[in-house]
Amino acid sequence: LSTLSALAHEKRLNSKFVRDEDERPKVAYNQFSDVIPVISLAGIDDSAGRRSEICRKIVEACEDWGIFQVVDHGVDTTLVSEMSRLAREFFALPAEEKLRFDMTGGKKGGFIVSSHLQGEVVQDWREIVTYFSYPIRARDYSRWPDKPEGWMAATEVYSEKLMGLACKLLEVLSEAMGLEKEALTKACVDMDQKVVVNYYPKCPQPELTLGLKRHTDPGTITLLLQDQVGGLQATRDGGKTWITVQPVEGAFVVNLGDHGHYLSNGRFKNADHQAVVNSNYSRLSIATFQNPAPDATVYPLKIREGEKSVIEEPITFAEMYKRKMSKDLELARIKKLAKLQ
Ligand code: SIN
Ligand code: FE2
Repeated sequence: LSTLSALAHEKRLNSKFVRDEDERPKVAYNQFSDVIPVISLAGIDDSAGRRSEICRKIVEACEDWGIFQVVDHGVDTTLVSEMSRLAREFFALPAEEKLRFDMTGGKKGGFIVSSHLQGEVVQDWREIVTYFSYPIRARDYSRWPDKPEGWMAATEVYSEKLMGLACKLLEVLSEAMGLEKEALTKACVDMDQKVVVNYYPKCPQPELTLGLKRHTDPGTITLLLQDQVGGLQATRDGGKTWITVQPVEGAFVVNLGDHGHYLSNGRFKNADHQAVVNSNYSRLSIATFQNPAPDATVYPLKIREGEKSVIEEPITFAEMYKRKMSKDLELARIKKLAKLQ
């Protein structure tokens, strides 16, 4: 076993990362677009003040792309920069230190060198650390890297603050649907949270590969912290055109996942996105996923007049996820067959 850092120094990209032409990046990592709104949350708790204006912007962004950025979000900037600094230090550790937390073989959390979707052969150009942080009883601290010193403690506080921010944003969306504030959080039953720290090393031939393949997140709402390098891209026409999200210092990129999309009966979009890499800089991002409990029900909380439900009958989140995975598997199989012909 080795890490990606070794392959990053080769002249040519190892063939297991080479994507089919139709999947390769269409837009450069640093060709930034500002179409994704950046929303200041300053005053969001003041119902007599800016709250309604902020809520309107959030709702519009969710209806439009399902993705936006927030600043003045109340999460301490020192904590945010500590998280990034410590995460970078972890990925800079020698391979054997990182591999102590190897997650392959069904372990709940830890380190993975690269990854690929079920049924896929081509791998993503990234290293990952995953923490299961909520519900608290799901925490297995033996799977949280104990190096660098202080990272474990920082992650604990970070998880809590981001859970608070995610719930605040879900309140806005619940109200926009004409429901009580807690409606979306309650629909998650005992909300799960998973933190995924992505490290994308410099890549010898970035035009041939992806750091993270195109996908929608399965869960309710995701908060992403990214550095200033750039690489997060979104599409809303099925992958024909892409935009690279402009990094904003200290901001969180917020996007809705499939669960949020279905609960709003399709009104809020589940952002279709991917991450591209480059040969100039390594890149770090920290994604915090808020998901419903596996047995929570997936079904629209409100179906507006004249609308049909986007889901035929209520299913559990575990079942929704299973169907998503088997659809991906089927698509990969069809693609493989087509290539052989
Ligand atoms: C993600 O989709 O989880 C991460 C995307 C990124 O690293 O920008
Ligand atoms: Fe994602």
